[in-house]
Amino acid sequence: SLLVFFVVFILTADYVKNKRPVNFPPGPRMFPIVGNIFSVDRKKMHESITELAQTYGDVYSLRIGQRWMVVINGFEVLKEALITQGDSFADRPDLPLQRMNKGSSVSFSNGNLWKQQRRFTLSTLKYFGFGKRSLEPVILEEFTHITKVIRGYKGKPFNPHIFLNNIVSNIICLLVFGHRFEYDDEKFKKITKLFEKGLQLEGSIWTQLYDSFPKLMRCLPGPHQTALNIWKNSKNFIHTKVEDHKQNLDPSDPRDYIDCYLNEIQMVTTKGQADSTFDEDNLVACVLDLFVPGTETTATTLRWAFLYMAKYPEIQEKVQAEIDLVIGLSRQPSMEDRVNMPYTDAVIHEIMRMANIVPLNLPHATSREVQLRGYTIPKGMTVITNLTSVLFDKNEWETPHTFNPGHFLNEEGKFVKRAAFIPFSAGKRVCLGENLARMELFLFFTSFMQHYTFAMPAGVKPVLDYSFGLILPPLDYEICAIPRQK
Ligand code: HEM
Repeated sequence: SLLVFFVVFILTADYVKNKRPVNFPPGPRMFPIVGNIFSVDRKKMHESITELAQTYGDVYSLRIGQRWMVVINGFEVLKEALITQGDSFADRPDLPLQRMNKGSSVSFSNGNLWKQQRRFTLSTLKYFGFGKRSLEPVILEEFTHITKVIRGYKGKPFNPHIFLNNIVSNIICLLVFGHRFEYDDEKFKKITKLFEKGLQLEGSIWTQLYDSFPKLMRCLPGPHQTALNIWKNSKNFIHTKVEDHKQNLDPSDPRDYIDCYLNEIQMVTTKGQADSTFDEDNLVACVLDLFVPGTETTATTLRWAFLYMAKYPEIQEKVQAEIDLVIGLSRQPSMEDRVNMPYTDAVIHEIMRMANIVPLNLPHATSREVQLRGYTIPKGMTVITNLTSVLFDKNEWETPHTFNPGHFLNEEGKFVKRAAFIPFSAGKRVCLGENLARMELFLFFTSFMQHYTFAMPAGVKPVLDYSFGLILPPLDYEICAIPRQK
C-alpha cells in the first residue's frame, strides 16, 4: 500500500506541477512525468515536430519531461513572433546546463547582460571582420594552407570533415586570439575536438534529462558529465590565453577580440559603471560563444556543399563556368565578385536552405505574457521557432524538397532575395555571426570550386542523410577533390 500511495503521490504532484496553462495552445496527449517524450521521433525530431503542426496547427504545445514548450511553425507565424512581437520573444529559457557555467555569453543570457555583450561583440566583429582589419585576406590565406593538404590526396577519396573544421576554427582563432594555428599543432587539435564534442552532446537525450532533473543527474554518471568536463577544459584553455594577452596588451592598438574585451573591462572599471557586465568570466564565455556556434555551423554547411556538388555535377559545372568567366583561374576570389556571380550566390543559398543546419533554431523564451494567434503564452515559456517549417514551407518555395538554385534567381538569371530564407533566424536574436559566415561561405566555396571538381569515389552514391542534434551534420563521407588545374 505504501507503493500505491507513493505512485499516487508522484502522479498527483506531476499533475499539479505541470497543469496546462489557461488558453494554452493544444498539443498531443501526454504521459505522466515524461510528457510528450514519445510524441517525437528522436532521430528526426525536427521532422516530427514539423509534422505535428498538421494535426495541432501552426502554434501548438509540447511537454518534454518537465518542461512545457510552445512550438511555432510556418513563415507567417514565425515572422509575427520573431519580428512583429520580437521584444516579447527575445529571451532564452533558463537551461540548467548553462546555469552551471560560470560566466555568461551572448547566446544564453538575457536582459541587460545580453544587450551589453551582444552590442560589444557585434561592434568588435565589425571592426575586425569588415572594417579596418578585414578578415577577407585572412580567409583567402587560410585557403592557400588547406589547398596544399587537399592537393596531397591527388584526387583520391578523403574525409573533408576535419579539414573544414580546421579552416573555419582558424578564422575564429585569428579573430579572438590574434593568430592561426598550424593544422598539426597539438593544442589546436585538442581544442577543435573539444568544441566539436561539446556541441554534439548539447542536443542529446542526456542533456535533456539533465535539464529535467538537474539535481539527480549531477550525481549520476553519463555523457552529460563529459559535456560538463568539456566546457571546463575549453574554458581553462581560454583562460590561459587571456592571461597571455594581459602580459603584452597595448590598449591603443588592440590585436584581437580578447584585447578589445580587456580594454572594455578596464574602461568600465575606470568609469565605475555600476551596471557593467564586462568581466573575465564573461569574456571567456563570449570567446567560447564565438567558437562553438561559429565553427560547427559554417564547417557543416561546407560539408553539405561538397556533397550537393557531387550529387548534382551539372550544377557544379555551371558554378565553375561562372567562376571561370568572372574570376578566371589566375587570381583568388573577392567579396566584390559576388554581385557578378548570381548563379554561385543562388547555389550557396540553396545549399543553406536544404542543409537546414539549425533545424529548430536555438530555443527562445517569452519575456512577458503574450497573445499569439488567439492563444495566451505565459511569461518565461520556452518557445521553439521551427526553422525547418519555414525553409521547407510549401507556401513559400516552389519546390520545397528539391535542390533548386532557381529559388533564388529570376527569369533573367539575376539573384533574388527571399524573405523566407532564414537559416540565421530573424529579429532580435538573429545570428550574430551572419555576416562573417556569409563571407566565409562565399570565399571558401568559390575557392574550392575554382580549384577542384568534387565527385564521389567510384561506385559510391552521395548520401544526403543527417544525424540529428542541435545542428544537422551530414553523415561522415569520403569524397574526391579532382584538381581543375595542373
Ligand atoms: C545564433 C545560425 C554562424 C555566432 C544563431 C542562431 C542561428 C544561427 C539559427 C539562433 C538565432 C535565434 O535564436 O533566433 C547560424 C548559421 C551559421 C552561423 C546557419 C553559419 C552557416 C555563426 C558564426 C558565429 C555565430 C560564424 C560567430 C562568429 C552566433 C551567436 C549567436 C548565434 C553568438 C547567439 C546570438 C544571440 O543569442 O543573441 N546562429 N550561425 N554564428 N550565432 Fe550563428
